[in-house]
Amino acid sequence: MTSTSPNTDEAIKTRKADHLRICLDDKVQCKSITTGFEQYRFQHCCLPELALEDIQLSTTFLGKSLGAPLLISSMTGGTELAKTINQRLAIVAQEFKIAMGVGSQRVAVEHPQVADTFAVRSHAPDIPLFANLGAVQLNYGYNLDACRRSIDLLEADALILHLNPLQECIQSHGDTNFRNLFTQIGKLCQQLPVPVIVKEVGNGISAPLAIRLVDVGVAAIDVAGAGGTSWAKVEGERAEDIRQRRLGQTFSDWGLPTAECVASIFQANSKIPLIASGGLRNGLDAAKALALGADVAGMAYPFLQAAHESEAALHTLMEMLIAELETVLFCTGNATITDLQASQCLLQT
Ligand SMILES: Cc1cc2nc3c(=O)[nH]c(=O)nc-3n(C[C@H](O)[C@H](O)[C@H](O)COP(=O)(O)O)c2cc1C
Repeated sequence: MTSTSPNTDEAIKTRKADHLRICLDDKVQCKSITTGFEQYRFQHCCLPELALEDIQLSTTFLGKSLGAPLLISSMTGGTELAKTINQRLAIVAQEFKIAMGVGSQRVAVEHPQVADTFAVRSHAPDIPLFANLGAVQLNYGYNLDACRRSIDLLEADALILHLNPLQECIQSHGDTNFRNLFTQIGKLCQQLPVPVIVKEVGNGISAPLAIRLVDVGVAAIDVAGAGGTSWAKVEGERAEDIRQRRLGQTFSDWGLPTAECVASIFQANSKIPLIASGGLRNGLDAAKALALGADVAGMAYPFLQAAHESEAALHTLMEMLIAELETVLFCTGNATITDLQASQCLLQT
């Protein structure tokens, strides 16, 4: 994500490096607000009438095939470390045929010399890759051309526009003019050659807002709800003054819990292509999100930690997530995610 602090090469690199360093620390995870997934449990089935190898995790999202209903949420780009992380993420996403987003490409639009830190298509030739820009940038000179360039850079299958009003309030010199964005997002949806996905960054999207976004042409919603990485805490950690620090603390647990967002959007319109993210930390969380109605489960922090360590650590994480998802399906007696969703085996405790 971005701020309007001086956009010199050095300032951008510092900001991107800060975000990676700070997000790797557990202290910017939400503490007193939770995702809400702990309020659900699956009904155990001790006679599944399946063999574990019968389980099929493959699915489709926005017309693209996935080996498992998983997304590496939008994170980074712009520095050498970000490039390494993006490349590792892309290699493992391709291996397991899951979807991947990159971080806000504003830095690459303004400084084309760092475009290569995002350009991972050669490592991930046939998975869905999602470009990323802040929707608010549409009020700060970004137009169709900037969006097209972000898509082209990645050879992306969709453009994610992120909504981050809380972060912009806390950042010094944040971009806080969110006027008239429904109309502008709607126009973009008409004009772009790929679908537009709208996401939050960890504070959630409500059902009424999701419906309005879909009404103007948005193809999918990623709730990015509360309970995981807190951008108020992240910006509080980067505080340049007492105001920023205080806002970061006050709003550190602000937002709509992820499970609540998913359940309410699915209940309002079960046809909206839906990504659940924000605080998902294992395959059991992902399975609960899918059972609540999400099509895909996204994670940022767990993938960041593993990617920072090594490609091997990422590979191991992916294997564990798959094993956890398969175990949920097996122990609820469901062979596919569609079966899981139809079985109503997720109970509220
Ligand atoms: C290091 C880092 C950088 C991020 N940068 C972006 C970004 O540029 N654009 C965006 O839409 N979301 C960004 N996010 C937010 C994530 O996509 C995600 O919505 C949020 O972290 C909540 O998921 P989590 O709890 O699994 O971390 C970033 C997250 C992390 C950890």
